[in-house]
Amino acid sequence: MRVIVLLGAPGAGKGTQAPILAERLGLAHVATGDLFRAAVREGTALGIEAKGYMERGSLVPDELTVRMLLERLDQSDAARGVILDGFPRTATQALALDAALAGRGTGVERAPYIEVPREDLVARLGGRWICRAAGHPFHATLSPPQVAGRCDIDGSELYQRPDDRPEVVNARLGSQLAPLTEVVDHYRRVGTLTRVDGRQPVERVTEALLEVLEAPAAPELA
Ligand code: AP5
Repeated sequence: MRVIVLLGAPGAGKGTQAPILAERLGLAHVATGDLFRAAVREGTALGIEAKGYMERGSLVPDELTVRMLLERLDQSDAARGVILDGFPRTATQALALDAALAGRGTGVERAPYIEVPREDLVARLGGRWICRAAGHPFHATLSPPQVAGRCDIDGSELYQRPDDRPEVVNARLGSQLAPLTEVVDHYRRVGTLTRVDGRQPVERVTEALLEVLEAPAAPELA
């Protein structure tokens, strides 16, 4: 099983890039944010528990998140491999993933890290519009849809995520950047990290990520 971990701060472009990479590489796209939002919509016990954390811009507790992710990895479409988008987000999650994969005789193959400065993240999240059908992201000025309010890919309605309100964006960045640094350090230490400049246009970021994922391993050394 091939496991790629796509790292980046909130708004760095993980959700923009992960589906493209998944299709190109024949892997399943697994986004913990999407799994939580589906659970909230469906009103499951997991969704009820996760909702408050998400609304405040905090991370959902590790135990719940790890359990949900490992159950998702057991589904048949993940058997060939996955691109993880938004997981792991803490050092505890990273270690739990390593242990679970070791038990399956595999490990994280590469951890590309999409780097974007904080001021750009605020602008990206503040102008983001998401489609109802599949969560395809657009941006009011940076990547507007061809028809206002409609997804270019599936035609569904576009909406703004409740956690993209300015006060929640600040809370997300305030609480989530430090744990992300620990996760980045973890993959740097084990030798699977590669940094990619996320300030480039979407297509250039895709090319850079594919270069990392299709090239023989030459990760950043500790
Ligand atoms: P999640 O859904 O994972 O949100 P996130 O990490 O905050 O990431 P985003 O979806 O906000 O950003 P993105 O990097 O996907 O950027 P995007 O491609 O959309 O998590 C939501 C919540 O769930 C968390 O806050 C937490 O509560 C909980 N959660 C999830 N996972 C968890 C975990 N593992 N542990 C605990 N809790 C967890 O791009 C952003 C915008 O920029 C878009 O408008 C896009 O069009 C634009 N854009 C993208 N790329 C470019 C580019 N190259 N140039 C210009 N604009 C661009």
